[in-house]
Amino acid sequence: MNAKRAMIDFSLKTDQPSNTKTDAVAVAVHEGLKLSWAAQDIDKNSKGALTTALKAAAFSGRCGTVLPLFNLAGVTATRVLVYGAGEAKSEKAVLAAKDARASGKALAGCAVDLSVSELTIFPLGEGAVDAMQQMVMGVSDATYRYDETKGTSAKPKPSLKRVRFGMPDDAGKAAPAALKASVATIHGMEYTKYLGNLPANHCTPTRLGDEAKKLVKSHGLKVTVMDRKAIEKLGMGSFLSVTNGSDEPPRFIVFEYSGGKKGEAPTVFVGKGVTFDTGGISIKPAPDMDHMKWDMSGAGTVFGVMKAVGELKPKQNIVGLVVACENHISGKATKPGDVFTSMSGQTIEVLNTDAEGRLILCDALTYAERFKPKAVIDIATLTGACVVALGSHNAGLFSTSDKLADAIIASGKKMNDRFWRMPLEDDYQEALNSNFADMANVAGREGGAITAACFLWRFAKKYDWAHLDIAGVAYKGSGKEKGASGRPVAALVDYVLSNE
Ligand code: BES
Ligand code: MN
Ligand code: ZN
Repeated sequence: MNAKRAMIDFSLKTDQPSNTKTDAVAVAVHEGLKLSWAAQDIDKNSKGALTTALKAAAFSGRCGTVLPLFNLAGVTATRVLVYGAGEAKSEKAVLAAKDARASGKALAGCAVDLSVSELTIFPLGEGAVDAMQQMVMGVSDATYRYDETKGTSAKPKPSLKRVRFGMPDDAGKAAPAALKASVATIHGMEYTKYLGNLPANHCTPTRLGDEAKKLVKSHGLKVTVMDRKAIEKLGMGSFLSVTNGSDEPPRFIVFEYSGGKKGEAPTVFVGKGVTFDTGGISIKPAPDMDHMKWDMSGAGTVFGVMKAVGELKPKQNIVGLVVACENHISGKATKPGDVFTSMSGQTIEVLNTDAEGRLILCDALTYAERFKPKAVIDIATLTGACVVALGSHNAGLFSTSDKLADAIIASGKKMNDRFWRMPLEDDYQEALNSNFADMANVAGREGGAITAACFLWRFAKKYDWAHLDIAGVAYKGSGKEKGASGRPVAALVDYVLSNE
């Protein structure tokens, strides 16, 4: 990854808020000036100076707000950052995942503005471990920078070097493992964002292959990077049909992590890695075509999950497959109506060269059979139709297994990295019929996300399978925060850990 950027060091701290030696302590206050346990400690030791200051500032206590205070008598840290914890619905108020993440982001942003290098955050008493996990993600939101190609306008590194969490006494033994998991998660997410944000002339399939080799060296994984010849040998005619119009050579990347018993069935992740999607001969319109550099976000997710897995070393076997190529246009490009034979032997009539994601994924789904997997989860920016259906808050989830679907949905809810289940039913298959092959690669406009999933389903009959259509959630396409989101790395890392 971006070697120039030092990562923030996260750890746990046990001192009382008022006598913590640190650059800034952060404590929560609810609406109506209701103090959290940590704020009470500061208030008591400062002889009410905290309450006086909050009143003078008319602090609202709204989630996502931060009020910095300085040099409170009786408090060791020179800066006290009061963060809003919203309505105190009960004595045992818990911050919702979304609010905890916003608090972490606001606190880290404020700390950076004040040139703080060590910040110590005290989460609310109840639900402190979950809140801490979300705050780690919020700190990442506030401090992640893309600067690889920013040239002379690259900004200096944020000042924040260390973040400590002061957990309440009853947080229990869960805190260290939870912290480790969320730190590995943000390392994975930041890697996913980095790869996604790289322009397509930098992030080529070749570059992804090179990144894979670098990643496994530092993380104790195994990887095989296959070139065109090896892909031809596997018979992946559907995948290769997408590469016809491009001068960039394709890559098929196989990550293997063996933390479980030998022979134990692995979970297999499969990522769509179209490093740029012009649409091919069925070319896309010009506006916003730059977004198609993020068409490798499914692959980026697999890289992020494998990075986190390499850090966390769970006791299970995990495989990551990345199908990487460009969908481009030239005299050699696939023409509408061309027919190709997939690795499964099924033939495909390519009626629209812009429906290329399914063409590369189907061969990887066939390849996945050789692992006799416990479950296969593919991740892809597959359809604009999914964005129309669900917008950018929930990714689409299709699955042949209720158990698998429920587990992914639960992890998504916990990490606020959500999925909404969509139908996978034979009734939709008919629309893919072709007079010239086993199937066409597109159906009509109706239910476009569903027919795309149904296409993939034809190649995923031999194991439990879930398909995640992340076209709406993988990146923000405009505005100040234009860039990759790192989704759904957090949900998938939590899903892996929930299998322990
Ligand atoms: N990469 C696109 C899907 C996409 C669209 C991702 C918008 C992110 C934002 C995919 O390859 C594609 O072009 N799909 C077509 C399918 C259609 C031709 C059946 C689409 O959604 O229009
Ligand atoms: Mn396309
Ligand atoms: Zn695409």
